[in-house]
Order: sequence, then C-alpha cells, then structure tokens
Amino acid sequence: MSGSAVTGVERAVELLDLHPAPADMRQLVIDGLSRSRKQLPAWFLYDAEGSRLFDLICQQPEYTLTATETALLEREAAAIAAALGSGTLVEFGAGSARKVAPLLQALAQPAYVALDISAEHLQAACTRLEQQFPAVPILGICCDYSQLEELPEHPLLNGTAHLGFFPGSSLGNFEPAAARDLLAQFRRLLGPGGQLLIGIDQPKAVERLEAAYDDAAGVSAAFALNLLRRLNRDLAGSFDLEAFHYRARWVEEHSHIEMALVSQRAQEVKLAGRSWSFAAGEALITETSAKYSPEAFLELAASAGWRGSERWSDPAGDLSLHLLVQAD
Ligand code: AVI
Repeated sequence: MSGSAVTGVERAVELLDLHPAPADMRQLVIDGLSRSRKQLPAWFLYDAEGSRLFDLICQQPEYTLTATETALLEREAAAIAAALGSGTLVEFGAGSARKVAPLLQALAQPAYVALDISAEHLQAACTRLEQQFPAVPILGICCDYSQLEELPEHPLLNGTAHLGFFPGSSLGNFEPAAARDLLAQFRRLLGPGGQLLIGIDQPKAVERLEAAYDDAAGVSAAFALNLLRRLNRDLAGSFDLEAFHYRARWVEEHSHIEMALVSQRAQEVKLAGRSWSFAAGEALITETSAKYSPEAFLELAASAGWRGSERWSDPAGDLSLHLLVQAD
C-alpha cells in the first residue's frame, strides 16, 4: 500500500509536548549572552511568528534552497523510497512538513513522526498531512530535537529501525562540533540499522548566498528581529527593535553565513532578570548557516559513525540529498 493523497477526512491529531521549560530557556539566554560574542540557539527564532516568517523566507526568490530541494524530492521520490525500504519516517525539525509528502506518497506502508519546536506549527502541519494521507499513522512531538535524549515510548516508534529525515540543510545551523554531536545523536535515536536522509546546501557564489539570507523584501531581517520581540515577551526583555540592524555575511574561513543583529548605539538591555551591555556596532549572532561540499559533509558524517550510501543532487549542483547508513 502507498500513502494516498485524499482531502476532506477528519482525524484527531496526536501531539506529545516535550517543549523545553521556560527556566531552561532563561538559562540558555544567560549562557548565550555571556559569551564573548553574544549568540543564542537558533531554535529561539521559531516561535509561532518566527515559523510563519521562515515559511515566507522559503518563498522569496533569492532563497532557492526550499524550491530546489522540493523539486529534487519530487523527482527522486521513487528511487529514494526504494533505497529507504520500510520503517517509520522520523522528521527532525519538520516545520510545515511540506517536503515529506512525496516520500509518504512513494513509501510502502509509511508511518510518520514529526518533531518540531513550534507547537502551533506542528499542529497545523500534522492536521494537514492527516487530511492529505488518511491511511498514514502520524504523530507530532513538540521538542527541541537537538536536546532529545531518546524517542518517547509510542507504538509508532516500536520495533524496526527508523528512517530519519532531516531536510532543509538545517544541520548547517549547528557549529561543526555540535553538528557532529547531532549526527551521532540521530544515530542513537534511530536505532541499530537506522538510516538518515539529509539535505545539505553546498557552497556557491557569495553574492547569491548573501542575497538568500538578506532578501530584498526584508523578510530575513524581520525573521531575525522577531527574536528580540520574542525575548521581550517570554523573558521580560526591554529590546528596542529600532536600535538593532540586521546583517548577513559570508565568512569564508568557516564556510558559513553569519546572521546577526548589530547594535546601532551603546545601550543597556534588560533580559531574564539581568542587565546586558551592547557596545555600538556589537553583534548579537542570531544564527549561522554552514554550507558543505559533498566531500566535506561525508567526512563530518563519518566522524559521527555514518557512511554515505547514495546521493541525489539538482542539475545545478546547489544541494544534495545524502542517504546515510550506519558505518558498523
Ligand atoms: C532552517 N535553516 C536551514 C535555514 C537556513 O538556510 O540556514 C534558516 C534560515 N534563516 C534565515 N534564512 C534561513
């Protein structure tokens, strides 16, 4: 049986809430702002409004990653499904969960578990998918997947090895050591014999990359500034959004785009019960996005116990979908 696309059928969405507690968020903010270069975990960007703005980024003409990867998944779905075999598909950071549809369509007897930090987004995505694929068992887990020690007990997660799905080049949002740890953690979570299908964006012309992360419509800037709005709301912050300017720049040495909010003047900001000083021109790094050549990525994956088994790429060579299997 294949997952069939049918609309108009109502089913209750099953969601597990493992979202980090506010106290954990407060400590992460304190740690991040105490660093010599202030930086916060990228998942803080994704409250309900941040998730909505990220979806808008994906529609900007400069940000080609989403369209390229979606087209590649649609084109190669049958080959990918044949290589994956059977098992529950576990998507890390599912967001709107739009990329999984071709796989649910092509896999024999699929089951799907979506993990995401934004409860509202997860609820909407799972509801839409349940209507589209009424025969596919679906579970949503609201969590920070990078901190998940184990997958929860659930019938969909019993038994066979799992098929991990990590599209969108989200691995690039982790520093290299954290990226390696995350890949090793996915290996543990997916169990012996588990596989991982992962989308990795590749280095390309600097102008293209900088435009992708600072689009002309200003959506990328609004996405970053929404972080300050969130901090004001959730951790009693006093950020003046007008006093920070968004910047995205390619850092060749690290093969990454660095996204930051730059303080326009010397200022004191209250947050998480403390006062923080920003010098004029000082950056609060909101996110970095690393780009890996296929060789560099496979080297990183090998250091986490994975081996590349297959790779699919778009005609321009902008992005690859790697299928990883466990090395031993
Ligand atoms: C989710 N992640 C892969 C995006 C990226 O391309 O690094 C996040 C993003 N932030 C701003 N634009 C896109």
